[in-house]
Amino acid sequence: MLKDSSSFYINLEDKYGAHNYHPLPVVLREGKGIYLWDVNDKKYFDFLSAYSAVNQGHCHPSIIKALKDQSIKLTLTSRAFYNNILGEYEKFITDFFGYDRVLPMNTGVEGGETAVKLARKWAYEVKGVSKNKAKIIFVTGNFWGRTLAAISSSNDPTSTTNFGPFMPGYEIIPYNDIDALKKSLKDQNVAAFMVEPIQGEAGVVVPDDSYLKKAFDLCKKNNVLFIADEVQTGIARTGKMICCDHYGFKPDILILGKALSGGVYPVSAVLSSNEIMLTIKPGEHGSTYGGNPLGCKVAIAALKVIRDENLCENSLLMGNLFRKELNKYIETSKIVNLVRGKGLLNAIVINDSQDSDTAWKICLKLKENGLLAKPTHENIIRFAPPLIINKTQMNKAIKIIISTLKIFEY
Ligand SMILES: Cc1ncc(COP(=O)(O)O)c(C=O)c1O
Repeated sequence: MLKDSSSFYINLEDKYGAHNYHPLPVVLREGKGIYLWDVNDKKYFDFLSAYSAVNQGHCHPSIIKALKDQSIKLTLTSRAFYNNILGEYEKFITDFFGYDRVLPMNTGVEGGETAVKLARKWAYEVKGVSKNKAKIIFVTGNFWGRTLAAISSSNDPTSTTNFGPFMPGYEIIPYNDIDALKKSLKDQNVAAFMVEPIQGEAGVVVPDDSYLKKAFDLCKKNNVLFIADEVQTGIARTGKMICCDHYGFKPDILILGKALSGGVYPVSAVLSSNEIMLTIKPGEHGSTYGGNPLGCKVAIAALKVIRDENLCENSLLMGNLFRKELNKYIETSKIVNLVRGKGLLNAIVINDSQDSDTAWKICLKLKENGLLAKPTHENIIRFAPPLIINKTQMNKAIKIIISTLKIFEY
């Protein structure tokens, strides 16, 4: 039974908000590090991290300090004028990730949109594709947000039903299928191949080890841009600064978002080379808030936390521990089929039909037991705690997860 204070907040949202989400019935009021507290003062492990936006932990003191300090000086100038912070940020982030230039935006989906526009511009102005013929290749199961450009590449009916007509110039091929890519790249009009190295929203789907590097090499051979959507997998989530680092190549266009601000402020970025980035000229693309001084200072602080607290290493170590223990458990489990992931982006697949509500019920039970997680695609539960989690905390969380799963074995 929900206590009254929870019902009050839930009813408010229910009455006055659009019904475009189906949240777990918990009302949160405070976050610190890896923990969240609800309005009834119950404490939880956060095993979602706001879909990997809070990699640095909730309300990280250095990120909050950067926000506070800058917020009393200058928050927004628009790009009609220069400001004294944007250049510092642009130098910092391009050095940090090893790219020539950055185009700053706000949300992840705007990052994706920017990457697609850049790829089209490059195709017409550098590669020489004829007017309006440029094509972008996507893969099944992709998710990069909710705008029309993003859902036009989706094969998920929940995203697309009754939202058409859709964006032309896209082709969707099967994920993790290198032959399908090889075939599609024969078309000279292909500008780019855009892919999440691990598909987050699809249920933490990890491709074969050789897939991404082979796809990158094929793109290079065919003069096609490789766009990595690392909005969810980037910023140490999978145990490397970006997930492509696991596979030893550098994408032509890199999209970052979410943890770029540690969950404090919407900041996204598209990084690329001079050749690609300089195809966009003044007035051709932008955003009022993109590159604002407040977001820039927050992003610098957020990236410094990742580096200074060795969160790539911790993500690798804690991820290995998580999968080792869960794998031990599933040897005899009747309810979980599989655990998969890299670093601290992991998921379990429930041994049940796709349309059952077992995963939802497990998440409700996990909540009761003090851990918050959310099903993705009915029978999959993603586990993605903040990357600052330590071994003792991880062992406690694993205990909660396994003991909760055991309740559902019968
Ligand atoms: C891989 C990926 N790209 C893009 C997005 C969109 O980001 P945002 O919700 O900030 O627009 C998401 C969001 O979940 C994502 O997982």
